[in-house]
Amino acid sequence: MRKKIVAGNWKMNKTLPEAKSLLAEIDSYIQSNSSKCEVIVGIPFVYLENAKVNHKNLKVFSEDISEHKSGAYTGEVSAEMLKSVNVDGSIIGHSERRQYHKETDEQIGAKIKIALEYGLTPIFCNGEILEERKAGRHFDVVKKQTEVALFGLTAEEISKVIIAYEPVWAIGTGETATPEQAQEIHAHIRSLIADKYGKEVADSISILYGGSVKPSNAKEIFSKPDVDGGLIGGAALNINDFSALINTYSEI
Ligand code: 13P
Repeated sequence: MRKKIVAGNWKMNKTLPEAKSLLAEIDSYIQSNSSKCEVIVGIPFVYLENAKVNHKNLKVFSEDISEHKSGAYTGEVSAEMLKSVNVDGSIIGHSERRQYHKETDEQIGAKIKIALEYGLTPIFCNGEILEERKAGRHFDVVKKQTEVALFGLTAEEISKVIIAYEPVWAIGTGETATPEQAQEIHAHIRSLIADKYGKEVADSISILYGGSVKPSNAKEIFSKPDVDGGLIGGAALNINDFSALINTYSEI
């Protein structure tokens, strides 16, 4: 059975003391409540080296990674550097990176490839913007993003990728895709992978939903057959909401 995952993306939030304390709270919550899912926290680069956790079900990810191996790329952080501070994986291709840093599907594909090469687990983000949804183009947009970024990988490589579908219009807006909208896109993504790599590979890949997930709507969304958890922004920034989201898997 594929993994169920609750992942937080802290984005550009928290000072070092705040980050340490939230991470310790999450770690101890998982220690004392046998969680039925894997938990990931995507945290700012500067805190990664200090991010020591005890529980094996809690993984620490970066929020981005360089597409280059090393060299004259001022401000970039490489896969090798992340590996050297024991990071488990990276969030790659988030819509905020696409929007504000003009990342392309080709670059995102290169980042995924290099993460895998260094043994880091990529969370590949895709999702349409509001205009594309209104024009009924969301299936095509997600198809292209997925094909360009992932379909150069071998079956063995793609099996190590986590996918996060995040409709851009639902991120930080309070507006969530309905469970049915999430399910139909997740099923679409899974069928694209099945067509290319076979059903067994497609069925092994966790596909997370992201966009205004909170304790009050998580259960309905996570219960859908092709939704394997969530990538969570705002509600990942405090222990009460985030632990309630982790706990959702005890109720499904
Ligand atoms: P919100 O949960 O704040 O909508 O953010 C979602 C997101 O972008 C996670 O990567």
